[in-house]
Formats: sequence, structure tokens, C-alpha cells
Amino acid sequence: MERVDYIVIGSGIAGLRATLELAGHGDIVVLTKERVTQSSTEYAQGGVAVVMSDDDDIRLHYEDTVRAGAGLCDPDAVKVLVEEGPKYIEELIGWGARFDRVGDRLELGREAAHSRRRILHARGDSTGREIVRTMLGRLSCADGVRVKQHALSVQLLTDDRRCLGVQYVDTTTGRPHLLLARAVILATGGAGQVFAQTTNPDVATGDGIAMAYRAGALVADMEFVQFHPTALNVPGAPRFLLSEAMRGEGGRLRNDRGEAFMSRYHPQAEMAPRDVVARAIISEMARTGTSTVFLDVRHLGAAFLKRRFPRIYRTCLKYHLDIARDLIPVSPAAHYIMGGVRIDLYGRTSIPGLYAAGEVACSGIHGANRLASNSLLEGLVFGARAARAAKEDGWERPSRFRSPHRREGRASWRVPDQILHRVREVMWQKVGLLRSEKELQRALAELEALRSPASDDATENFLTVAQLIARAALFRRESRGGHYRTDYPRRDDEHWLVHSGQQRGRPPFTIPVGTVFPESDDGLSVRRIDS
Ligand code: FAD
Ligand code: SIN
Repeated sequence: MERVDYIVIGSGIAGLRATLELAGHGDIVVLTKERVTQSSTEYAQGGVAVVMSDDDDIRLHYEDTVRAGAGLCDPDAVKVLVEEGPKYIEELIGWGARFDRVGDRLELGREAAHSRRRILHARGDSTGREIVRTMLGRLSCADGVRVKQHALSVQLLTDDRRCLGVQYVDTTTGRPHLLLARAVILATGGAGQVFAQTTNPDVATGDGIAMAYRAGALVADMEFVQFHPTALNVPGAPRFLLSEAMRGEGGRLRNDRGEAFMSRYHPQAEMAPRDVVARAIISEMARTGTSTVFLDVRHLGAAFLKRRFPRIYRTCLKYHLDIARDLIPVSPAAHYIMGGVRIDLYGRTSIPGLYAAGEVACSGIHGANRLASNSLLEGLVFGARAARAAKEDGWERPSRFRSPHRREGRASWRVPDQILHRVREVMWQKVGLLRSEKELQRALAELEALRSPASDDATENFLTVAQLIARAALFRRESRGGHYRTDYPRRDDEHWLVHSGQQRGRPPFTIPVGTVFPESDDGLSVRRIDS
């Protein structure tokens, strides 16, 4: 057992920014599941939404975010994001991030549901990679930071009052380790890998959400999964993302007859909110009896496409598609989860000593549907804020711990292939873009049947996050944002203008918008122990 000051789990934008805030304040360990660069952040294409131009306004960014969130954004959290965002981007530029420019001005891209051009990007469509490069460069000269790669966290360690540390497995040796700290920051990213079709990298299995839930933390809004409309749909190819920025630059969606169909579904056509575009594609595929539609960017010309989307251009060529000449087959895929571990404005979870930031967290910024390119910004702003709170809350280093689970000392880390594949199929078929009570109940029964008393922690985490999504989807009897129920196709503000909450040992419950850790009325408190 080792004792340190702070543990950060995850090396995407939220984890790296948190670590940079902690550097110089003690002994810090970053645990990351694979190589340090393996994260959704590394693959982010479109860019970072931020107000950095004279014809834009923070108020407009706020309004666009809230409109996309379909009634469930927490206003204070959105304010923090849009107001503090520019400062963190300036800082990143000061550290050497090279965002694309036209002359000496930042070049701003456009994405769906943004009322202004406000998306900063780097090397065209390699924004995330540039951010990771910059932050890792900064980290290489930071004090007191050790990065442990191939260190898979499987379980949080808690006592009756707080989080004390984490159990992780060194996946190169299979050896389990215990690490205790003053505070733990979860920055483990999203959960796209619980769906058969996803744009997310392999590491995005939702472990942080599951670990926090199993340790007793409040999780919220798990039904809200964003399906990106345009993932590459070529047999044998990964579901590589074709950035929304391609539609922002004028790309059109066409059915297999070559017809541009989006204006039949929404007045904003290709620039409609993501959930609308994704469902329109599904409808169009059903109407025409096909399993794909096409993204057409041919009219933008080879020179422009090679400059603006170089990574996409090269990747498509690998699959024998020249996007300047060919239509690109696309279909929707799971992309982002709006729900997660419920946090306050400083990244505090309902478990003292446990903080969360980035996609693993539910800050209330995104409501029922995230505005494109808001998540990199969230990772920066809330990564820094969570680390600052962890320092200021001043927890002592723990001297002992009690594991909350029956598996003390056990730590296997491979989810068996048959469980992995079955969960992904069940989630895609029954808990995907179109949901209904009957299918959700079937999904939950299948997921429960896959559970066994002998399951290891990694398997338990994987099943837990899938169940959290399915349960929340069954609970919310309406359609809103990323959550669509064929049996309740309307938005129902009278009953459902609320967040959904889940906590170990309780059925799902509602949380009023703007409330972070509600008082429980059934004796099972979700209030923070120290509040
Ligand atoms: P991540 O960047 O996913 O990092 C999570 C980290 O946690 C990884 O290092 C992972 O290895 C580690 N980890 C996970 N589980 C464990 C565990 N059990 N133990 C140890 N380590 C663990 N958003 C935008 O704003 N703009 C975009 O242009 C954009 N494009 C995108 C393109 C793609 C293809 C994808 C998939 C997402 C995109 N998004 C975009 C969303 C955005 O990239 C993510 O929401 C954001 O990067 C999440 O950052 P994060 O730090 O929370 O998590
Ligand atoms: C994209 O480039 O389409 C992804 C942007 C995002 O997910 O915010």
C-alpha cells in the first residue's frame, strides 16, 4: 500500500488539467489505463467552443448551450463554463497550443446549434491531439507528478466518511495495488464502449461512473447519451468520426437515391441539433430500406478538404474513399454521455474526498443534450476547479481503509469477451437511439443475467454502467434531448423537467434542476456527509 497526496485517474483533458493545477502541491499520481495519450481527448476533431471574437458574446454561448440542453442545464454551471472558458484557452495558448489561424486571427469553425462561428481547431481536425501534446509538454516539467500507465483503477476505497484512495491493477503484470491519498479526482471519461457502435476509443468503458456508484456516490442523468450522426460506416473499418464541422462547412447528408433529405426533418437541416440529425438518419434509412446514408463534401474541393480535414481525408483514403470524389457512407454511433457522477461547481461528488471532472461527471452543463464542442472546454475549466477544491478542502492523508465491497484483495481486469460483446449488442439494440419500455425491460433482464457472484471488478463496473443507463432510460417516461422513447415520444415538462438520480440501494429518483445533492425523503441520504 502506498500513500500519496493526490490521485488523478485518467489522462484526458480533465485529468491533465487537474494534474497541472495540483503540480507543486505534494506527491501526485496519475493513473491511466493504457498509454498516457489514449483518451477521447486525443481523438477530438471539431474543436473547442469558446467566445474569442468581437462578433460573439458570452451571453450567446450561454443561450446556445441552454437551448441545446432541452430544459435540463443547470444555469450556474453553464455560466461558469462560458465565463471562465476564454481564460483557460488563453492559458493553453500561452503554454504553446497552436490553434489554426488566418493571418494572426484565430480561425473559427461552425457546428450545429451554435449561433456564431466559435469553434477553435488545430491542424484542421486534430484539435484534441494538439491539446494533449501541449499539456503533456507542460507536465514534463511539473513538480511531484508521476504518471503510471497501464494502471487500471477497479475500485474506490472508502470509509464511513470519505474516499480514501483506489485499488488498481498494473495490467502489464496483473498485480493489484492499493493507493491512498488525501483526495481522488476521477477523470475517466465517457462510456461509449458499452454500445456496439461508438466513436469512442477502447478506454471509454465508463469505469469511473461505475466505481463511484458502487462506492455510494450519486450519479445523475444517465439516460442522456448523445449519438453522433456521422460515423464512418464501411465494413471492416472502425466507427471513425466524421466531424460535425464538415456539415458546418457545407457538407450535405444524402440518402441512397442521392437526395438531400435533412430539410424534410428540420428547418436547420444539416445544422439541426445532433439528436435530431441522428434520428432523421435512422428514419431515412428505415424509409429507404438501407443501413447507411451518405455525407457529401465533394463540392468543397480537394484543396480545402485536405487543409481543413487532413486527418479525416487520410483516414478515409485508407478505406479507399477519396472524400473529394466519393460520397462517404455514414450512420449514427454512441458518442458522449451527458450523465455521470453528480458534481457541484467545484467538482465535488456526494462522497467527500472524491472529485470528478470531464465526461465522467454530470455538472449539469449539458442538460439533456450537449452542445457540440463544449466538452473539451468543460474538461479544462472543471479539471482545474476540481483540483483547486481538492487542495483547498484540506483532507488529511488517510492511515487506514476499509473496502466497501466484498471483493477485498481480488482484482482481475479483463471483461470476458462474451460479456463484452453481449452487453454492447444489447445496449445498441435495446438502449440505443430509439427506446421503449418493453425493450428496456428486456435489456435490463439480459444485463442482470450476465452478472455472476464470481464477476471480477472490471466486469462488475462494465455491467454496472450499462445497467445505470438502461435503468435511467426506463425511468424517464418522456423524450427529451438525447433520450427518445417511442412509447413516450413527447417532451413532458409537467412531470419530467427534472434530473434523474441513482444511488446504490435505491430505485431511481428525480432531482430538481439546479439542485446538486438533494435531501432524501426516504431516509437514504444523498446529502454530502460534511455539508
Ligand atoms: P478522456 O479524454 O476520455 O480521458 C479519460 C482518461 O481516463 C483516459 O486516459 C483513459 O485511459 C482513462 N481511464 C478510463 N478508465 C480508467 C480506469 N479504470 N483506470 C485508469 N484510467 C482510466 N468534444 C469537444 O468538445 N470537441 C470535439 O471536437 C470533440 N470531438 C470528439 C471526437 C471523438 C472521436 C470523440 C470520441 C469525442 C469527441 N469529443 C469532442 C468529446 C470529448 O473528446 C470528450 O468528451 C473529452 O475529451 C473527455 O475528456 P475527459 O478528460 O473527460 O476524458
Ligand atoms: C465533432 O467534431 O463532430 C465532434 C465534436 C463534439 O463531439 O463536440
